[in-house]
Amino acid sequence: MGGEISFLLNNTEIRLTEAGSRDTLLDFLRLNRRLTGTKEGCAEGDCGACTVLVGRLHHGALRYEPINACIRFLASCHGCHVVTVEHLRGPDGGLHPVQAAMVEHHGSQCGFCTPGFVMALYGLWMQNPRPDMLAIETALQGNLCRCTGYEPIVKAAFAASEAGGQNFDALTVERDRVTAALAAIPAERVEVARGEDRAILPADAADLAAVLADNPKATIVAGATDVGLWVTKFLRDISPAVFIGHLADLKHIHITPGHITIGAGVTYTEFEPFVLQHFPEALDYWRRIGGWQVRNAGTIGGNVANGSPIGETPPLLIALGATVRLRSTEGTREVAVEDYFIDYGKQDRRPGEFVESVTVPLKGDARIAAYKVSKRHHADITASAAAFRVETDGATITSARVAFGGMAATPKRAARAEAALKGQPFTAETFEAAAQAVGGDFQPLSDWRATAEYRQHLAANFFRRFWLEQSGAEHRLRRVE
Ligand SMILES: Cc1cc2nc3c(=O)[nH]c(=O)nc-3n(C[C@H](O)[C@H](O)[C@H](O)COP(=O)(O)OP(=O)(O)OC[C@H]3O[C@@H](n4cnc5c(N)ncnc54)[C@H](O)[C@@H]3O)c2cc1C
Ligand code: FES
Ligand code: FES
Repeated sequence: MGGEISFLLNNTEIRLTEAGSRDTLLDFLRLNRRLTGTKEGCAEGDCGACTVLVGRLHHGALRYEPINACIRFLASCHGCHVVTVEHLRGPDGGLHPVQAAMVEHHGSQCGFCTPGFVMALYGLWMQNPRPDMLAIETALQGNLCRCTGYEPIVKAAFAASEAGGQNFDALTVERDRVTAALAAIPAERVEVARGEDRAILPADAADLAAVLADNPKATIVAGATDVGLWVTKFLRDISPAVFIGHLADLKHIHITPGHITIGAGVTYTEFEPFVLQHFPEALDYWRRIGGWQVRNAGTIGGNVANGSPIGETPPLLIALGATVRLRSTEGTREVAVEDYFIDYGKQDRRPGEFVESVTVPLKGDARIAAYKVSKRHHADITASAAAFRVETDGATITSARVAFGGMAATPKRAARAEAALKGQPFTAETFEAAAQAVGGDFQPLSDWRATAEYRQHLAANFFRRFWLEQSGAEHRLRRVE
């Protein structure tokens, strides 16, 4: 077992024998290393002012992604290369092409958000040298600017791509050296502490089971996009915290002829190409989960395990008939995702267990759809979400699974509405009957996101929307317009 957190910060090797579970990367950068280019705005993953790049080995290849340093815990940086805005420079030692483009196109006024924008655009510039408007908008979902406006920033993104220079960038030139340095960090259990406050990084999934058997009350931390806020907003104690974001054996994605199994540690970004390939109808829904930084850190296992009634993967996973695999030193067991959610804040997870993977049946010929309504299009919390999986034999609906988020204490199927669909003709009248029936399925709450009445309207309208899209009527309507 090791007793040292070890990572690269820009050009510097960091070794820490003392660290608490709640220490954030942002505090370490600003307070300890005086790297104050990285800003603190919201401290909850919403504004992007704290964006840094984190490079890590993914199946042996070094990959850099923008993340929010405010909700990233320091201990989870073990084995990573953290890159801050101070590391950027152009080929002549002056401004980096992304920074130069921001200056040239007046992409900054007060400048507080600017380092975060620069880092998100730097991440995009390296991953996608010729981004289109959609790629730029997607990369900037997690960055808020309140004085410049986005148009000059988008222009700067296009200009930076024109400028090129990726081959001469420090992260390209130093790739082999950094890869070797990260690969040399041994894959062993690491434990550090500050006083009683403990942070544990297991060596692999089997070791995770052993750690949890010894510490059944420990807090599991994957991407920390939920747990981070427990600390920064609610000042909660999470010790002992068991960090799992680095575990390669929770990051596998296996495809068989009928199913796809997703390791619990797979992030939204890592799974996005598979959504595109196997569930393209859900791609827009997927890209509206959090912002880019959140999707680079947040995991599918974390979203399910968290058990939030407004988590976005559960309605989709339930509609698709997915199962969750739980593991402990006692062995593994498989539970339908819909049965995993018992009540508000209560899931079918025993002490010592962790979510190992989620298995999703491939959709075959089924018609699927996923919808989210929130006050803001991107990076906002759901008022209500719905996912559909409907099979027909041509004229008749042979099976229907429709699951909702934001309508009850847990993500839940709409049993009455499903019954109104099953065995019925695939017609507008049938979907209208289901739209009426769903009113009896849920008694939603009113809160600051939406009133109960509004949520009921949304639920009914999702059925109408599904029909319009699936029947082609929506296209006909659009042509008439
Ligand atoms: C700005 C912002 C926007 C967001 N937008 C959305 C959104 O649009 N839609 C949405 O659904 N969510 C959203 N979230 C919430 C969050 O990103 C997701 O719930 C995410 O999937 C959580 O994954 P994580 O890996 O970060 O989990 P963590 O924060 O690490 O953990 C979450 C919970 O799951 C537990 N856990 C994690 N992994 C496991 C495991 N393998 N086994 C057992 N328990 C485990 C933890 O103990 C904790 O209880 C947002 C969060 C932020 C900060
Ligand atoms: S400070 Fe706002 S996202 Fe981190
Ligand atoms: S330049 Fe002031 S918030 Fe963006």
